[in-house]
Amino acid sequence: MKKNENKDMFKAAWNYAAAPESTDHINLQKQYDLYIDGKFIKPVKGKYFDTINPSNDKKIASVAEATAEDVDLAVKAARKAFKGWANLSGKDRGKYIFRIARLIQERAREFAVIESLDGGKPIRESRDIDIPLAANHFFYYAGWADKLEYAFPNRKPKPLGVVGQIIPWNFPLLMAAWKLAPALATGNTIVLKPAESTPLTALKLAEIINDCGLPKGVVNIVTGAGETGANIVNHPDINKIAFTGSTGVGKYIAKAIAGTDKKVTLELGGKGANIIFEDAAIDQAVEGIVNAIFFNQGHVCCAGSRLFVQESVAGLVIQKLKARMETLIVGDPLDKNTDIGAINSKKQLQTIQNYIKIGLSEGGEIYQPECSLPKEGNWCAPTLFLNVSQSHKIVQEEIFGPVLTVQTFRTINEVIEKANNTPYGLSAGVWTQNGAKIFHLTQRLEAGVIWANTFNKFDATSPFGGYKESGFGREGGLQGLKPYVKFE
Ligand code: NAI
Ligand code: MG
Repeated sequence: MKKNENKDMFKAAWNYAAAPESTDHINLQKQYDLYIDGKFIKPVKGKYFDTINPSNDKKIASVAEATAEDVDLAVKAARKAFKGWANLSGKDRGKYIFRIARLIQERAREFAVIESLDGGKPIRESRDIDIPLAANHFFYYAGWADKLEYAFPNRKPKPLGVVGQIIPWNFPLLMAAWKLAPALATGNTIVLKPAESTPLTALKLAEIINDCGLPKGVVNIVTGAGETGANIVNHPDINKIAFTGSTGVGKYIAKAIAGTDKKVTLELGGKGANIIFEDAAIDQAVEGIVNAIFFNQGHVCCAGSRLFVQESVAGLVIQKLKARMETLIVGDPLDKNTDIGAINSKKQLQTIQNYIKIGLSEGGEIYQPECSLPKEGNWCAPTLFLNVSQSHKIVQEEIFGPVLTVQTFRTINEVIEKANNTPYGLSAGVWTQNGAKIFHLTQRLEAGVIWANTFNKFDATSPFGGYKESGFGREGGLQGLKPYVKFE
């Protein structure tokens, strides 16, 4: 091959990468109904709400708003389906779950584009992370369905019954997969509610569930906002609530079910510490810091939102971090070059902007690279806060946006104490070339997930979950089966 041809090929590939993903062949309806008892049905009261594209504030579709009557129909359908599903052989349950995984793979492009349209996340993330991981969760738990006796040796696990699952908007399809797959593998039936700002991929999943011939009533998908969620929580014939979302709603759920025999698992907020020691591979750590906080616009419960840098390398790390932030592209979620997409909703943007104001008023020193944000839609530039301390609100509270606080430390004990000094206990990251230091920190940091020399890595085989106000219960891996079984 001549030199020039090589160059042209490179150019063509780059052009391809720069083009926004097309929405051709993305099959979207104007209106979406509820999926109850194996059918798409209109809500009893006939109410619908809009789901919005957060990158331009335009309506994408109308979505049914389930009221108490609809939730009751869904719970009844799940109850009716329970015995049949629980008594099916694990092998047969596994086949259905496997089919769901295959159909997600077959329609991966459609899922990825819809996820980015409805929620604002960069297409690269939907395509390479969210959708493949969602399929993997179904594959992984399909494999457990006929091996439960090995998961629980000498004990016979029984399903709990009808499970209510309420999920957030930051990883819409992936959270549906985390919830549905282990519950199905263990023989439960389900009423699932996606978040009101991102219902579309869960409704696409309902189509797949319908296409794969899953017995009717085993999975019911009801859409709506907090009130619909509360109707699920308070329904008397639900055996368990599995929730991922804000700590405030988690506390509401814990109170609402107190005194009933409903079981509960909660996956709530976080304020992850990302700790860089002076012996870390600095360039790698800077990439890790960027990924830890700017991945998915910082709408990540386990985000590394508090950076702790050892004093001797702080100047260098901050300088490199600022330079790297200048190269980040904020914009069209469908563009394959985009690093930071749209903030998921107006409400979330206001929350983030409010925290930035608080940070400034408390004396924090802000750094944002110059970037031209699109005129329409909801956007936030990547943001650093220097000159902050433990008592600052932005160091203590979850912001859930692309905002990183930066603190320095001298000794290992000092950083452990600071890292643990929040109400949360979900995630942490440690960057050092010293293995002994890593093991020491994994013992002392109060976090359900600790990454070493990496951040925000997920896998269906690895359990995920928190301590303290980050909630309890584990999802993923063998541990992820436990919250869906009982022993008699
Ligand atoms: P949220 O907790 O209100 O929403 C999560 C889910 O709970 C949604 O499906 C929502 O409809 C449902 N919900 C709301 N009120 C409910 C109720 N009373 N009973 C039952 N279900 C209810 O979260 P929101 O308001 O969207 O975000 C606020 C903050 O929460 C964020 O800024 C972030 O800090 C945190 N958050 C954490 C998440 C995580 O992954 N841990 C995910 C989403 C939000
Ligand atoms: Mg939306």
